[in-house]
Amino acid sequence: MSQTTDKIVVEDIRKSFGSVEALRGASLSIKAGEITAIVGDNGAGKSTLVKCLTGLYSPDSGRILIDGQPVHFSSPRDAREKGVETVYQDLALSDQLSVWQNMYMDRELVRGIPGFTLLRRKEMRERAGELIADLAVNVPGVRRSVKRLSGGQRQAVAIARGVMWAKNMIILDEPTAALGLNETAQVEALIRRVVEGGMTVLVVSHNFEQVKRLSQQVWVMRAGRVVGGTRTADVTGEQLVGMVTGAVRTVE
Ligand SMILES: Nc1ncnc2c1ncn2[C@@H]1O[C@H](COP(=O)(O)OP(=O)(O)OP(=O)(O)O)[C@@H](O)[C@H]1O
Ligand SMILES: [Mg+2]
Repeated sequence: MSQTTDKIVVEDIRKSFGSVEALRGASLSIKAGEITAIVGDNGAGKSTLVKCLTGLYSPDSGRILIDGQPVHFSSPRDAREKGVETVYQDLALSDQLSVWQNMYMDRELVRGIPGFTLLRRKEMRERAGELIADLAVNVPGVRRSVKRLSGGQRQAVAIARGVMWAKNMIILDEPTAALGLNETAQVEALIRRVVEGGMTVLVVSHNFEQVKRLSQQVWVMRAGRVVGGTRTADVTGEQLVGMVTGAVRTVE
């Protein structure tokens, strides 16, 4: 029914750690301009799959395609250069730096010639401020040190940074696991705005209610494989639980 096309395709990916087969041939697709969720029990292989998409791990076999083209990520930098940004829990921000400095961390705008460069601080500050305003992120100001922000505000800054740099997709691994109800609602609203702006989002979540609220497509992982996938609107939260535990076989 959907008119959108596949932004990312994962084909039959395998990844072992010694004798542990974390991924045993996992396949899924992610449509452009949608929120896709991955669910599954502890140890199902979700984070391993995500790490293959973020360049932290190289799959032992299988393929990843962006816009139909096979890609090989040998590092997180590589994945970022191909337009895939990841928002990690906790590790995301540097406490000593301000909001705008965090948004440009490792990717500062400079002028001058190599070996003699100046940071374009004003421009970075302004651009960061504009994006924060565009996304209606509830952050008191881009000069503020992130140390003084709440958990939800920090997560919002990390997501805004992803938006700033992602050309293809933003991956969120448990984006609200550490947040309270209000902050969770704010971060979910932000994720929706990001997608309304045309971005593609992949979210790993243990929270089935959140998956129902947020995503258009959900894939279920079990024991290193993707065992089912469905349009989110077509399942209840209960059915999702059944698919995760294996009580319900299905769905495509
Ligand atoms: N670096 C590693 N070295 C060895 N084994 C690993 C490594 N990473 C993951 N595994 C194993 O691979 C399997 C899948 O782990 P993974 O972290 O991908 O699961 P998950 O679905 O993200 O689980 P959770 O919901 O608990 O985060 C598990 O058995 C795990 O112990
Ligand atoms: Mg995990």
